[in-house]
Amino acid sequence: MSTPTKALTFIFLALAFSMMARPNDSLKIKASYHEVNFFVEDNEACLKCHGEANFLLEDEPNERSAVKRMGPTKIVDRDNFYTSVHKSFACTDCHSYDFMTFPHSLESRFEESPMCMDCHGYDESFAQYHFEDIEAEFAESTHNTEGFNCWSCHDPHSYKAFMRNADDLAEAILYDNNMCLRCHADFSKFSMLSDREEIILVESHDWLPNQVSHFANMRCIECHTEINDSILIAHKIMPKSDAVKNCTECHSKDSRLMHTLYKFESLEQRKGGFINGIIINNSYVIGANQNIWLNRLSLLVFGMTLLVIGFHTYLRIKKQKKS
Ligand code: HEC
Ligand code: HEC
Ligand code: HEC
Ligand code: HEC
Ligand code: HEC
Ligand code: HEC
Ligand code: HEC
Repeated sequence: MSTPTKALTFIFLALAFSMMARPNDSLKIKASYHEVNFFVEDNEACLKCHGEANFLLEDEPNERSAVKRMGPTKIVDRDNFYTSVHKSFACTDCHSYDFMTFPHSLESRFEESPMCMDCHGYDESFAQYHFEDIEAEFAESTHNTEGFNCWSCHDPHSYKAFMRNADDLAEAILYDNNMCLRCHADFSKFSMLSDREEIILVESHDWLPNQVSHFANMRCIECHTEINDSILIAHKIMPKSDAVKNCTECHSKDSRLMHTLYKFESLEQRKGGFINGIIINNSYVIGANQNIWLNRLSLLVFGMTLLVIGFHTYLRIKKQKKS
């Protein structure tokens, strides 16, 4: 190769690399998105703005454009969206087509969001989630106020059925608690729904020793909901005066956690790792040693002993017959 050709090749390669290094759209779209969604390209019409921290505002008639910042609450994370329960959706399945134009029209801003029950209510294929029972519980919840609905906790662009599928209990607890802390630890969101001047979450749990350890090992709903054995996740949030404050409700043989966090149903659904996790990590509550699985294990040991005795008896009888 002659020197000028070498130089050209070098410049060309350098250019190619700089183009690759630039975060262009095709790099942001992962192959895994296409595996779960038919509308990945269509969704980019929204995500080119809503998937970014900054977006390009264009004024075509006047041939102008400027980079603007996207409000943080209006950013939809692609990875979260394409792993959520509604990963297969087009943005326009839930949002009006009017949003295709920008600036968005006043009409589109007043669109009515579809609600969980519109799609999931009385549908056999989702029977295991008991949407109807959950709706009834929410209706009785302290949160059932103007402007509060299922989407207030269930982020439309990232919600996962975590507890049901998780094999790491600590991770599931964190996920669920963050659903509450989105408001109860963020005044800007909280104040959209309340006239209160401040959040007093830490103060109101002062009575609980070792808050960090308690909040890492159980969910807010353990203390703030009524026990309901027919659904996996209790949804009736009671007023603060009815919250669990008594240590022995958990630190006792018949711990309420057996009916909430460690409920049989949820153990059954997450066989293997999770159950072992609880038993091995010893993360079941002190005093609540009446663990179903430990009980079953002792039954099993007892059964085995019987078998062994039986087998010995059989051998002895056989031996006696021979002699
Ligand atoms: C050119 C960039 C751009 C595109 C493309 C775009 N949006 Fe927006 N959108 C914005 C900005 C900026 C805001 C916040 C400012 C505002 O409300 O005008 C916004 C606001 C919104 C809101 C909140 C409206 C409100 O008043 O609460 C929704 C919902 C929304 N967009 C949905 C969509 C959907 C769905 C699409 C695709 C069909 C889309 N947007 C395409 C830039 C864009
Ligand atoms: C399963 C239905 C559903 C899908 C799919 C969906 N959204 Fe939404 N989106 C909603 C609902 C419901 C709200 C209103 C949330 C609320 O009231 O708190 C919303 C709100 C928004 C907002 C305004 C957020 C805010 O805080 O103002 C934007 C922006 C948005 N969606 C963009 C998108 C984009 C982009 C997509 C596609 C990648 C998308 N949405 C897909 C249901 C959906
Ligand atoms: C516009 C209709 C629609 C709305 C509104 C909606 N969903 Fe869904 N949802 C679906 C469809 C369709 C699926 C199945 C998606 C798939 O299989 O890819 C689904 C899947 C799910 C799943 C997973 C089910 C499974 O077994 O895979 C859960 C959990 C869920 N939705 C909860 C909710 C909750 C909670 C709400 C309200 C906060 C809600 N959905 C609102 C249509 C909707
Ligand atoms: C106060 C917050 C809050 C509200 C309001 C709320 N949910 Fe939930 N929901 C949760 C939490 C927390 C979970 C547990 C998430 C996880 O880890 O699976 C959950 C889980 C669920 C599940 C999955 C249950 C399962 O068996 O896996 C469904 C279905 C559901 N909610 C439906 C609804 C419906 C329908 C509404 C409105 C009528 C609603 N939720 C309102 C907090 C809420
Ligand atoms: C969308 C924001 C939001 C989310 C998410 C949310 N809350 Fe609330 N919560 C509120 C508001 C607002 C109030 C009412 C405050 C008032 O009285 O003005 C409230 C009230 C409460 C109360 C009653 C307090 C009292 O004074 O009696 C409890 C308990 C509570 N929330 C627990 C929870 C739990 C547990 C979760 C998660 C499963 C959760 N919240 C999720 C906004 C939220
Ligand atoms: C061990 C049980 C327990 C756990 C876990 C728990 N709480 Fe509480 N919470 C209480 C009790 C009891 C009160 C009432 C305290 C009082 O009034 O003296 C309370 C009070 C509250 C209040 C009312 C505060 C106010 O404005 O006066 C809110 C909101 C609340 N809790 C939210 C949460 C959230 C969010 C979580 C999870 C991060 C959580 N709680 C975890 C027992 C608990
Ligand atoms: C809603 C159930 C619940 C209530 C109510 C409760 N605890 Fe706990 N507590 C737990 C769980 C779960 C753990 C974590 C178990 C572990 O660490 O293995 C725990 C752990 C502890 C620990 C060990 C902390 C550490 O350092 O690991 C102490 C001490 C404790 N609790 C004392 C109390 C006292 C005192 C009260 C009443 C004021 C109380 N708890 C109320 C569920 C509860």
